[in-house]
Amino acid sequence: MKIGIASDHAGYEMKKYIIGYLRKEGYEVMDFGPHILKKVDYPDYGAKAAAQLSSGKIDRAILICGTGIGMSIIANRFRGVRAALCYTPFLAEIARLHNDANAIVLGGRIIANELACEIVRVFLETKFGGGRHLRRIRKIDKIILDKDL
Ligand code: RB5
Repeated sequence: MKIGIASDHAGYEMKKYIIGYLRKEGYEVMDFGPHILKKVDYPDYGAKAAAQLSSGKIDRAILICGTGIGMSIIANRFRGVRAALCYTPFLAEIARLHNDANAIVLGGRIIANELACEIVRVFLETKFGGGRHLRRIRKIDKIILDKDL
């Protein structure tokens, strides 16, 4: 599984921490930046990771800004991206089971790094439930396609 990760300055430290955790666990992680701590705009980095996810070049994305709200908004503009802002492992589990979320969004100013890693672990290990949830996701995709016409 190829994982992409991106942040802004408010999520930079958490990004580094999560990359360390994931590499220790044996995951392949692509860091879409920023690569140094400087003030940046979350749409620039969120869009880089979301575009890769949308085109299938990565399987999962992890996006981090101060609250997670800005990154959620930008990521969900991309076709096929289902980004879920999760502050608890339970939300991450449901986001996978019910929503087949392929991007998880975290708030670097809201939760601790250790909790963020546990949320990411649940996100990566939980499978989609399918069934009625698949029907609902297809309806979302259909609305997006119709809207694009
Ligand atoms: C940056 O100060 C902050 O606005 C950003 O990290 C994020 O919280 C936006 O949603």
